[in-house]
Amino acid sequence: MCGIVGYIGPKSPIPILISGLEKLEYRGYDSAGVAVIENDQFSVYRVEGKLSNLKKRLKEENKLPEAPVPENGRAHIGIGHTRWATHGRPSETNAHPHVAGQVCVVHNGIIENYAPLRARLQNAGCSFVSETDTEIAAHLINSHLTGSASLLEAVRKSVAEMQGSYALVVISTRMPDSLVIAKNATPVIIGLAEGETYIASDIPAVLEHTRDFLVLEDGEIAQVTPSGIRVEFDGKEVTRNPVHVAWDPITAEKGGFRHFMLKEIYEQPQVVTQTFRGRIDPQAGSVFLEDVRLSDDDLRLIKRIVIVACGTAWHAGLVTKFYIEQLAKIPVEVDYGSEFRYRTPIVDPSTLFIVISQSGETADTLGSLELAHKQGAKTLAICNVVGSTISRKAQSVFYTHAGPEISVASTKAFSTQLTVGYLLAIRLGIARGAISKTQTATLFEDLLRLPAFLTEALKTDRQVERIAKKYGRSNDFLFLGRGLLYPIALEGALKLKEISYVHAEGYPAGEMKHGPIALINEEMPVVILLGRDGTNYDKVMSNLVEVESRGGRIIAVTEEETPELRQLAWEVLPVGVVPPLLMPLVFTLPLQLLAYHVAVYRGTDVDQPRNLAKSVTVE
Ligand code: AGP
Repeated sequence: MCGIVGYIGPKSPIPILISGLEKLEYRGYDSAGVAVIENDQFSVYRVEGKLSNLKKRLKEENKLPEAPVPENGRAHIGIGHTRWATHGRPSETNAHPHVAGQVCVVHNGIIENYAPLRARLQNAGCSFVSETDTEIAAHLINSHLTGSASLLEAVRKSVAEMQGSYALVVISTRMPDSLVIAKNATPVIIGLAEGETYIASDIPAVLEHTRDFLVLEDGEIAQVTPSGIRVEFDGKEVTRNPVHVAWDPITAEKGGFRHFMLKEIYEQPQVVTQTFRGRIDPQAGSVFLEDVRLSDDDLRLIKRIVIVACGTAWHAGLVTKFYIEQLAKIPVEVDYGSEFRYRTPIVDPSTLFIVISQSGETADTLGSLELAHKQGAKTLAICNVVGSTISRKAQSVFYTHAGPEISVASTKAFSTQLTVGYLLAIRLGIARGAISKTQTATLFEDLLRLPAFLTEALKTDRQVERIAKKYGRSNDFLFLGRGLLYPIALEGALKLKEISYVHAEGYPAGEMKHGPIALINEEMPVVILLGRDGTNYDKVMSNLVEVESRGGRIIAVTEEETPELRQLAWEVLPVGVVPPLLMPLVFTLPLQLLAYHVAVYRGTDVDQPRNLAKSVTVE
């Protein structure tokens, strides 16, 4: 959940560390800190709260300007951290980096056996200043840095005693030209550039410096010095081939928008094109999935599909279930990662097990993937981050190509996940003979028009902003949808909750009469999604009348405004006429905009909402 960075090379480290942390701040913002080695001593700067506090402090202490090029061919070295608190409340004392003797450490993850380790180290005379599990790692490594032991050896011995998850970056005054990284169940990458090396929790953090990376695997330890990198597993050197990433660093900037979230909402027509481009051949009527290692025969033998994900990605799973059941006629179940992994799930070799994850690092999704793999299921990851743990652990991967998503609230990743679900369902439908050539051609034609449909839906922005100001003080919202739009009602409610801190419930419209109808009064805005999808329109229209007759303030999101709707609803948001299967994508946009504008109106921190983190790498 935290973000870690490291640098070794000829440049001044602090500005590089700060720039990397700025791009990782979405992972946590309870405290921030950096440490460098100057004159064979640690200089550590830590603050409670956001990175802006750290920058202010560094400016006050005149630590942000360029440092002189080091003499005697030595390298500058530094590490940095932005924290999402687990062990120990947010405070300066609990902020990383943590120092113990000759060792300084930043850590992402949880050291599960911290209590016995702490007791042992205390008995041996170590005194602790923080409440964190990380300080234990610092003391443990320092305790092994005896005699002629190198930093690498000390880290090797220490991680052998640690249980849990960690991405650790360690520096030592004893070996000021060496930086050691250890990884288990928490991501860390090494960025390679001419004469310098960058360490980070994820690729976008250092994309401005390099596009070539080593991605460490669990159990690996790397030592970086000015003369090279050694990666080892179990004490033995291993060869790792660098991966090259095509992402453009500019896409990780705000580009004139007030917030990343708004920029990412507006990127959706373009990113869905990136998702389907090169993957469909309308002439041949085929879908081409480059990294999906499943033949037509494999696809025909699948008896059941299980989709596991968390949060927004779970909503994408619910829509994908509709797509696959409708187009490929395969039964699909959708589960939360945190539930699936602790049940006794039934999956076997005839099951296609799909995980959906933007980050590719979500602990519960990853744990479920590992469990399904053990039980013999065929595994497929729908993932955005290239080289992420989930994308590497699954047998096949279907990248969403949304580009870096910086805002904590997922928007463009969701649209691309739905686009992937649509493509996958067509691919399965073709392989199993469940859809005809004519149907396939229509589905492709619709998909090619998707960017235009999304552009049209974005035109609701101004109207949504006005609605947000009118209803933005309400303390509760209800979102209702049916069929394909039910998951979108859930997603609309989640978006509003997470960035506006407004209580919101998403419900299947037909279920309203079984309970939530009791909530409706003159104070309650009810967002109703009305798409002309089979009989659903008429049924949801009846629900709308039920809300109206109880005084609810109806905000109807629909394809076209009708006189009937104008009469019944307080607000009507027309998104344009769209083919039913594409409704989930199109109807999502005004709901994302609604959450965004309510958040701006209420003055919350849109891109970094309280208590949340972008990658949830803890259970
Ligand atoms: C989305 O707005 C949320 N921040 C959150 O629900 C997110 O979708 C969830 O944590 C899953 O993340 P992942 O896609 O990276 O696995």
